[in-house]
Amino acid sequence: MGAANNSEDLPPIDRLALANSLEVTALLTQAMAKHGGHITFDEFMHIAMFAPGRGYYDSMNRIFGDGGDFTTAPEISPLFGQCIAQQIMQIMEHMGQTDVLEFGAGSGILAETILLELDKHERLPQTYYIHDISPSLRKRQFTRLQTNIPQLLHKVEWLNDIPTRFDGIMLGNEVLDALPVHRVIFRRNRRYTEIYVTEKNGRLVLEEGPLSSVELQHEMDRITQLWPDIADGYQSEINLGVKRWVAQVSQALGKGMILLIDYGFTRKEYYQPSNHKGNLMCYFQHHAHSNTMLYPGVQDVTCHVNFSLVAEAFQDQGLNIAGYTNQGFFLAGCGLEALYQQQDTQDEEKFLRLTRGIEQLIMPTAMGETFKVIGVTKNITQDTIGFSVSNLKDWL
Ligand SMILES: C[S@@+](CC[C@H](N)C(=O)[O-])C[C@H]1O[C@@H](n2cnc3c(N)ncnc32)[C@H](O)[C@@H]1O
Repeated sequence: MGAANNSEDLPPIDRLALANSLEVTALLTQAMAKHGGHITFDEFMHIAMFAPGRGYYDSMNRIFGDGGDFTTAPEISPLFGQCIAQQIMQIMEHMGQTDVLEFGAGSGILAETILLELDKHERLPQTYYIHDISPSLRKRQFTRLQTNIPQLLHKVEWLNDIPTRFDGIMLGNEVLDALPVHRVIFRRNRRYTEIYVTEKNGRLVLEEGPLSSVELQHEMDRITQLWPDIADGYQSEINLGVKRWVAQVSQALGKGMILLIDYGFTRKEYYQPSNHKGNLMCYFQHHAHSNTMLYPGVQDVTCHVNFSLVAEAFQDQGLNIAGYTNQGFFLAGCGLEALYQQQDTQDEEKFLRLTRGIEQLIMPTAMGETFKVIGVTKNITQDTIGFSVSNLKDWL
């Protein structure tokens, strides 16, 4: 099943990062000892990504942008956040001035761009809440907003937990892909198995064992119904945590909209035969690779999203699927072209950067098709501009 090795063509890891990774490995070993010698991949990700003060999102890792491990859409172009602000304003036309809640705000750049755009139109929310699991990123967000938009900082409030009641617009870019997943293997005659993480000769390795929950069995049965000839040994992932997360945010929402952007596909596409090695990806200093056991706590481990599962989880909670579409179409629906035309063309270099950024956001070969947007509503019945160009919700 592939032992950890660092034979891949990756940049060297620095001393501090290596020390952190060894501490995370020690936490993993403790967890394995508590669980009979191995842990599920979902538990592995919980520790490697979120262990307080040590995990990937809560240590000294730079994470975002050129000096980090990966670059997200709001980091690529301000037009991304400006488009989302148009969608927020449309909902506000219906709801009046309301609140915004951003999940997983990363460096804080999306919050900054959205707030600036809303301010420009004199449509600031009552409060712009941020809920992020990582204390160190929460600090980073505060510093960024305090430095770049001190005049709007009074509008921003950080939440330690998902609120129990919220009216307004919730949003999250690349949050679902960060949620831990289980890894599974399809075997003939529904004898499905799961991949666990264990330790052999001082190294983290993967091993196969029985399924850890009946929920996995149910989801694997559904996938087998879609692909009855699914190959013996077909490996993939199942995200059970996303259902719990969706239930929590749905129950919190009294009235409003939830907008989630991420890379992923429908269930049928997700488990198509060619994806027989699954959809997990690791990012280390902008190098994408597939060795999930390498440098726990130092590299990003992320997984494509099964949007059919997400949509069903929302529907189970009584929410309405307003739309599902590609990022490119969504941004077009939010008025990307008009926003682009309003930009200052005097500064040639800046304008060229903006043009390149748009290409990355919308081109099918870049983020335009791989990234999807799902919008769900509760107790509002308004059309949404983001899904006006194309709405593929029947595909889910
Ligand atoms: C891939 S980053 C995306 C950051 C930002 N949204 C962007 O687009 O640049 C994932 C973010 O989600 C946060 N996160 C991960 N799991 C979370 C959870 N369960 N609840 C809230 N935030 C979470 C991480 O701390 C991080 O800020």
